[in-house]
Order: sequence, then structure tokens, then C-alpha cells
Amino acid sequence: MTTATTGRATATGAVGTAHTRVEGRDKVTGAARYAGEIPFAGLAHGWLVLSGVARGRILSVETAPVLDMPGVLTVLHHGNAPRLHTDYIGSMGVPPDPTCAVFQNDRVPHAGWPVALVVAETPEQAREAAEALVVTYEREPHDIELAADRPDAYPVDGHMPGVTQKGDLEAELAASAHVVDVEYTTPEEHHAMMEPHAATARWDGGRLEVVDSNQGTTWVADELARMFSLDASAVRVRSEHVGGGFGSKGIRAHQVSAVMAATVLRRPVRVVLTRRQMFSLTGYRSPTTQRVRLGAGPDGRLRALDHRSLSRTSTIWEFVEPSAGVARVMYDADAHRTANEVVRLDVPSPTWMRGPGEAPGSFALEAALDELAERCGLDPIELRLRNEPEVGPVSGLPFAGRNLAACFREGARRFGWADRDPRPGVRREGRWLLGTGTAAASFPAGALPSTAAVTAEADGTFTVRIAAADIGTGARTALTLVAADALGVAPGRVRVRIGDSDFGPAGIAGGSMGTRSWSWAVTAAAEELRDRLVPSGTVPPEGITVRSDTTAAIGALAQKERHSYGAQFAEVAVDVTTGEVRVRRMLGIFAAGRIVNPLTARGQLTGGMVWGISMALHEEAVRDRASGGLYGPDLAGYHVATHADVPLVEADWVDDPDPDDPVGIKGIGEVGIVGAAAAVANAVWHATGVRHRHLPIRPDRVL
Ligand code: MOS
Repeated sequence: MTTATTGRATATGAVGTAHTRVEGRDKVTGAARYAGEIPFAGLAHGWLVLSGVARGRILSVETAPVLDMPGVLTVLHHGNAPRLHTDYIGSMGVPPDPTCAVFQNDRVPHAGWPVALVVAETPEQAREAAEALVVTYEREPHDIELAADRPDAYPVDGHMPGVTQKGDLEAELAASAHVVDVEYTTPEEHHAMMEPHAATARWDGGRLEVVDSNQGTTWVADELARMFSLDASAVRVRSEHVGGGFGSKGIRAHQVSAVMAATVLRRPVRVVLTRRQMFSLTGYRSPTTQRVRLGAGPDGRLRALDHRSLSRTSTIWEFVEPSAGVARVMYDADAHRTANEVVRLDVPSPTWMRGPGEAPGSFALEAALDELAERCGLDPIELRLRNEPEVGPVSGLPFAGRNLAACFREGARRFGWADRDPRPGVRREGRWLLGTGTAAASFPAGALPSTAAVTAEADGTFTVRIAAADIGTGARTALTLVAADALGVAPGRVRVRIGDSDFGPAGIAGGSMGTRSWSWAVTAAAEELRDRLVPSGTVPPEGITVRSDTTAAIGALAQKERHSYGAQFAEVAVDVTTGEVRVRRMLGIFAAGRIVNPLTARGQLTGGMVWGISMALHEEAVRDRASGGLYGPDLAGYHVATHADVPLVEADWVDDPDPDDPVGIKGIGEVGIVGAAAAVANAVWHATGVRHRHLPIRPDRVL
């Protein structure tokens, strides 16, 4: 069933072989404890109070009546909270979002802004007091409207330039035989992971310890040390099990407010966010308005490509959803322009959310390619193959393997694409119209410097220590297999310990870089340990430990256009009487480097594709213009795909080892969602003959 992936010859063959999660039994029996349920002696509980106004100034926080309530220990707010140091650029290359630097002034920049923390002996007492706390405000008018013609939009250089441009767009468009000029929109979307954010902070022998749920313990430890002006060695962050992250679990208000309260009260304090609080405090995907202009010659070769994406950010933090970035890698054209722009509005700060940029950007770009294929009278796959670039269209760099065409060939064969009638709206089955669609996917394949320690124990087992994060991906299991191969032993002799900043600096579980970054460091330490063990033969009681640091090796990596790719296929049925769209089957074929664990990799890729179905058909956070807040900000009101919405979803891959990576890994964390919504939308057009350019494709929009 699985296409074999090859890599370096290894002693045990663990890498590439399906392996169940090493912590799976702990998770299903409840033995695995999550951040909000680990017991501490003398624990106090904090409850955040969020602003009810969308913009203004705090006039008063009436703490006295609340402090008299049962169990209440303190109320922290801008008038009494410890001052934080926020004037720095953190390890992610950005200053901290002021949303997490809580209680520093009386400004309210958006609805759901944290204005106070009530701390009590029990969570119930804290919640009751928090709900009773009276805060008065001076209201100011607010503005939350994102529109394509906003004069205050401006391009933002995030981790990539805001604008790239070459050639004469207008001239090439005018000379093109076929032109597509269309606008697409995607709504505000939320991560909504199963486990809400939770942190417990305590001082222990002069060290700050935070037990948290996050995507990188050394990242969060570094931010807390900087904010509280502590020596880096005085902060320890642990995060053993994480029930989902998706970009949202970095430094947030819950950790910072818990540390403040633990410092003031001199006892452990836990802050757990409610699901409603997560909708304003933990970031989200900005809505986007994207204009795509494509011009092609009679043969479908692109002469002009223009992709402009407009997203929004808060007035306090500049974050751009870089949706036009995907065009910089996917297709070349004689004239090529991309722009990522933002408008600053009175809304909560957005953040990274799975496939940031690529997920909404690929919806617009890949749907526009489908429209161009129709204009050109070309098969959508053939159009893409004719436009495969030789080198990075904007970077000019060589590709470190670009096996997109292989994904399309394998996908087309397995999906049965060859028999497809290109005409839209001609397949009917009772009240259902049927259609199929395809789209390309790509996501950068990077690596972050990491350190690891591997110990040969006296009993013949091995312990790996690395500040990795398993946010549900199966990272722990992947690293077990990688270490086993590098050591030349069976996986059962390897234990992997992760999620502790005391293990030393390591990259985050983010940007699809986790497994690659950590595997590199683990491999380096394990291979050296194996070499060292051969001559001696015996291991002392304290074991033999080898440490690695990949900073230099990653710094020396050749500059290439390094991406994972994929081809997405979807078949849909559209009910002509209700407008309901049902996905009948999906297939994704990926070229995403060497696959470490086919079992968890398949789950991660299909999980991304399911999210793409959800993005295409269901997800939409609707903001109320009057209050500035959301309608139904919880799992009851935020519609996500459920089992009944997810039919046969299959993911597989072609052989694609990265030649420059010690294990051959690229990354699979995000490429699964990319292109998935476009494949569904293109299938809806094929079924109905109508282009749906605004997500989600709700029944009322279809009718
Ligand atoms: Mo991912 S959005 O980089 O956690």
C-alpha cells in the first residue's frame, strides 16, 4: 500500500517501518498527564477576566468586593501587576505579542483583552470571583472591517519580503491569450485544539518552573526569562504531553499571568484558559482577501502571475498571513508579482496556524490555476506540468528535489483521473451533482539548530534527551526510530525524553521543522556514541553520554529551494436541493522527504487533508461588528469537520529523500492541509459549473 521510501542503509531498518506511539498506552489509559491536571501541593488557581469592550481605556477595577469573596487570594491588574520587559526580539525573530505581556497599561485594544487575573484557592472560587469583578471602561469607537480597498493596507516583511516583483505585469497580461482575474476570500479561522492552554508556575529553590502545554519548552523559557528579567538558567519549562498546538501554543497570557501570580503569592499558581478565552487570547488565522491575476499563452504557459493577499492584524502586533508566498515557489512567469499586505484593526492578534500563508494562499492560487485550465481548454494537471519551473521562480535557487510531477502522476493513476470528463455540471446521480478536482501543495522544508544528548546506560538501553515537543504528531516515536537506527539497536532499547527546557536549546514543533530538526541532533549524538562504544565494550554505572549541537551543520547547509510537495484530489457530491456539499473521497500523494514512521505520518497527512475539507466547507469565525467579538466562540459555535463529513481520505507518498539531511527528512506537518481546500472547491465547480471563491462553501452560497 505504501510506496517504499529509501534512504541511507541503516542497521535496524526502524526508520520507514510503521510503529505505534511509544506513549500510546499511557495516553489511552489516562496515565499520561496533561499540563492542567498535574497535581501540586498548595496549588492556587487563577482565572482571567477579559474585556467586554472592543476598544478603550480601563477606568477602574473594583477589587475590594471580590477580595472579600471565599477563597480569593489576589486580583492582579494593570494597577498592581509586576512590570515586564517587552522591548526585545525573541528567538522567533519577533517581539512578544503584547497580548501575552498582560496588565502593563490601561489600554484595551480589542474585545477579549485580558484585564485582570483573579487567584483563589479553587478554580470554582476563582471563576465565581472573576465573573463578579466589576471593571469600568471609557469606550472608544472600534473598526474591525477588512476590505480589499482599504487605503491603510501596507506590505509587511515577515520572515519573507512583503513584495516580490519582476517583469512588466500589465504588458504580459495584455499580450496573454487567456487571462484570469479573480478575487478570493477566506474567513477568520481558529486552531481549536482539543487541549486548551494551561500552565502552572512555581518558584523552586530560586528557579522558576513552569509546567505547560506548548510547542517548544526552550522557546517559552527564553521568552519568560526575558520578560521577567531572569537569567536563562533560572527558568525551567516542562511540557510532556500536548493535546494539539497547530501554531497557537507559544508564549501566551496564561503562562505570564501564572508566573506573575506565583511571584506575588509565593505559591504555585495554575491558569487554564477556557475554550471561549482561547478564541481571543491564543491567536487565529486572519481572514484573507486575495486577488490573483494569471495570463497565459495559447499553450497554457504563464506569462503573468500576480498574487496579492490582504490579511489583518491587531493594532498592537504586526503579524502577516503570507498567503502570496506560495506563488513564489509554485509557478514562474515572465512577469511575476506577489504581495502580502495587512491592515491594522481593533481585533485580537492573529498568529501562525497550520500552513500559515500556504493554506489560504493555495486555495486562491490553485483555484485560479483551475480557472485558467478551463480557459485554456487544458487538463488542470497538464497545465501545472507545463508550468513546472526549473529553479525557484523568485529565489532563482536550485530545488532540493521537486517531485511534484511524480505526485501528480501517481495521484492521477490511483484516483482514476484519466477517465475524467472535463465538462462541468454533467454528472448527476439522483439529486446529487458529482465532480472531481485537483490542486498542488507545497510547504517549506526547514531545519532549526538543536542540541541533544544520548546516553548509553549500563543496562544496555539508551536514553535520548532533547527539548522536543510532541504536539500529537508522534515526534517521540519518530525520534525513537531515528535514534535506534543511528545507534544500530532495536527501538525497544531506546527511551526518548522530551519536553523539558533543561535538556538544552532545540527547535520548536512548528513550521513543519520539528522531526527534521530534532532527528538531525539525535542522529549526530547517537552516531558518535555508537562509534565511541565499539572499542571500550563496557559502560560505567553512570552511563556514557554524548551531546550534539547542529548549529554549525545547519548553518552550512547549501542554499536551495527546499520544499515538500503534494498533489491533492477530491471527489464531491453537491445536493441540488439543499446546496450541501459532501466530499466522497480524497487522495493526497506527497513528496515530503523520507518518511520516518508511515503510521503516524499517514495520520498527520490525512489530518491536514481533513482540515482542508473543514476549511473548504465548514470553518468560519464570524465577528460581530457592533461588539467586535465573535458569535459562538466555542466548539459548539465553531463548525469543524466531524466524522460524518470525512469519507475515504487517503494519503501516500513518493520516494523523495532530502539529499542534504542526515536522515533524508523534509517535513510533513503542514503540507497536508495545503491545496486541500482548492481541490474541494475545484471539484465543486466540476460538479456544478459554478466557481465558489469565498470559503466556506456553505449551502446558502451554493444555492
Ligand atoms: Mo505551525 S502553524 O508552524 O505550528
